Amino acid sequence: MVKESMVRMKRPRPLKADLHLHTAEDPLDRVRYTAKELISKAADERFDVISITNHHQMTFNQDLLSYAQQRGILLIPGIEMTIRRRHVLVLNPPPHKTCSDFLSLSKLRCPETLIVAPHPYFPGTYSLNGYLLKHLDLFDALEYCHFYSPMINFNQRALEVCQSFGIPLIGNSDAHFLSQLGTTYSLIHAERNLESIFAAIRGNQVEVVTRPLKTLEMGSIANRFLRMKLRAKISKRRPKPHPQCRKSKVI
Ligand SMILES: [Fe+2]
Repeated sequence: MVKESMVRMKRPRPLKADLHLHTAEDPLDRVRYTAKELISKAADERFDVISITNHHQMTFNQDLLSYAQQRGILLIPGIEMTIRRRHVLVLNPPPHKTCSDFLSLSKLRCPETLIVAPHPYFPGTYSLNGYLLKHLDLFDALEYCHFYSPMINFNQRALEVCQSFGIPLIGNSDAHFLSQLGTTYSLIHAERNLESIFAAIRGNQVEVVTRPLKTLEMGSIANRFLRMKLRAKISKRRPKPHPQCRKSKVI
């Protein structure tokens, strides 16, 4: 006779994931680390799955996919789109599709593509705020963002919406600095492939692992973020080099 404990299947380890990350290839923000540097850091931090979600353009190619694979990481293609000036994460979007309104976003909805509302109730014109409830059926999940402290937490409303409407919640860092990686992330109970991961998120098989930032830490991140935005603004104003002098972009 076989004892019950001997036949009990061992539950596989959940996948450590962060699906909202920026890198130096981002055309909007002046991030100081490259996609490969991020992948190496994520491997050091024992992440299983990440998505680089730069603004307006995808940072994803065979070279990066292989680089990540060699380090034990599944790299999911992603992008942070701006729709009516609001940010929306689209993971594994169809190639060369961009959306400028919610109607075109709705056309991307399919099992192979995951649509996430990042930091939906954070102050600032880039967060969905009122648009979220108007278009809730477009979103597969809402984000619990790393940027909060015990005193200030703009994630609270997102948490309430998830609980009221049964929408899945995922933890992301929205990292623009490597030190942000690992502050908030997801543990996804899925196999290491895109189909299983998306199904697990839609099925609420996700634990959000998070810790509030210390007040000083939050202040320091806010300060660095604002300086980064200022650098981006200044570099935008500078005249662009002659096209023949510009390096061609690989990604
Ligand atoms: Fe972002």
